[in-house]
Amino acid sequence: MSTLILTPEAMYQGDLILVSAAYPCHPLPCPDLVTVAGTQVLLENRAAQALDRLMAVIGGWEGITPVSGWRAQEEQEAIWADSLAENGLAFTQTYVALPGHSEHQTGLAIDLGLKGNHIDFIRPDFPYQGLCQDFRRAMARFGFVQRYPAGKEAVTGIGHEPWHFRYVGQPHAAIMEARGLTLEEYIPWLREFPYESCRYQEKNARISFLRANPQGPTVLERSDPLPCAVSGNNVDGFIITEWRQAHGETDQVRRP
Ligand code: DAL
Ligand code: ZN
Repeated sequence: MSTLILTPEAMYQGDLILVSAAYPCHPLPCPDLVTVAGTQVLLENRAAQALDRLMAVIGGWEGITPVSGWRAQEEQEAIWADSLAENGLAFTQTYVALPGHSEHQTGLAIDLGLKGNHIDFIRPDFPYQGLCQDFRRAMARFGFVQRYPAGKEAVTGIGHEPWHFRYVGQPHAAIMEARGLTLEEYIPWLREFPYESCRYQEKNARISFLRANPQGPTVLERSDPLPCAVSGNNVDGFIITEWRQAHGETDQVRRP
């Protein structure tokens, strides 16, 4: 038996935070950032490592380049303002998140583009074929999802973005992909699996939701010694991922 004390701030941190028009990024300590593929693009360290492993498997860096990763608030403000001036409000609302509401500000999102002479910064080319499609086929195994798919524009509030990928870790990326869920849908779906009563069983992992205590720290009582990762959801609680046996992406197991 062990007890974990989760601070109120922890609800705004972790691989599964939902950042959207409804749920802004909270002012957090700057994530642990590293450069990607020898460029100036920055990404959260574990997300960058997972991306590198994925790219190694498909030979991805030969034809794909990172376009935009972590953005400071000021950069998101500049992108919004520049796009507004150049492209107008409708385009900007479709393809640029409001400053303070972009998941690029978390370090967990990256825009990727097919290498070429001209790469559009806001809408890089990332076709549904060839190497880019190899990336999509492999991404869930490495913890990535395509965050703004076609047909879900009304759910995400953002246009179809074939180039924008979000690290959510395993096994969440695989579950989201298999069930066709965006993060806006996955976070509420997980509330069906309260930690106290009915955890979701996924192959070698158990996933559940622990509602945050609105009065102060949240107490997580653990009855077994399984490796466990805790992520806030940036909305109302925590996602608890418990591993029943060793799994491939060991860097994704974090003891809080
Ligand atoms: N292009 C995405 C929505 C962003 O600006 O965060
Ligand atoms: Zn993006």
